[in-house]
Amino acid sequence: MRITDIDILPTAQSAQDYDFSDSVAICIDVLRATSVMTMAAASGAESIVPVLSPEEGFELAEALGRANVILGGERNADLIPGFDLGNSPQDYTADRVGGRTVVMTTTNGTVAIRASSGARAVVAASLLNCHAALHVAINLAHERGARRLVFVCAGNHGVLTLEDCVCAALMAKEALTRDECSGARMTSDMATALLNLAHGRAEGDVSLCRESVHYNVLIGKGYEADVELCLGRVGTMSAVPVLCADGRLRAQ
Ligand code: MLT
Repeated sequence: MRITDIDILPTAQSAQDYDFSDSVAICIDVLRATSVMTMAAASGAESIVPVLSPEEGFELAEALGRANVILGGERNADLIPGFDLGNSPQDYTADRVGGRTVVMTTTNGTVAIRASSGARAVVAASLLNCHAALHVAINLAHERGARRLVFVCAGNHGVLTLEDCVCAALMAKEALTRDECSGARMTSDMATALLNLAHGRAEGDVSLCRESVHYNVLIGKGYEADVELCLGRVGTMSAVPVLCADGRLRAQ
């Protein structure tokens, strides 16, 4: 089936009541949840389970056997007390997460994934895996009979964030160059507006992300290495976390 429609949602909240029938959702939280998921998948995590609260995380970790689980994520960008890892992608190494279940809760990224779970397929995309994630999303759309790609920007507390919009716009622009999507229409003014962010920008030009509010919050908290990793290696990774029927993301 051809992709006829492309939409871009500005926030996780805008995904809550969205009609995802006929859609593949591509969830994006560049700083930093989906970048972490990309790294965890590339490091051989058995799966990543997105949960909505630390309490849900602790309960699931107990049920699965605490020793088998890595609890990861953030609140206010920092490590959650009692968790094993925060939301720094470079901490999700093969040593720490290889072969293990990562139970993860973040302020916006895991919310976006859970809110999109009615789609025919859900993939986690970041600047790191943007090309591979688009490829996987288009293949899944073909396999599962979906005709619409919906880029779900996580945003921050219901407000759009530049870095997610830049990633969605670059991916949507690339989608329009693919045979499977040729002639696809943007189905909302938001999608058209955000697509225009990508016009005239060279592939990999993500400089606008350095003007974002959350970029500056993370810099202010000393997470320079994280933002450089999330923004500085556009399209270099091939691991793509895909949501499975059991509610876990696994690498494709
Ligand atoms: C989120 O889900 O909002 C982010 O990942 C926050 C962060 O990493 O700082």
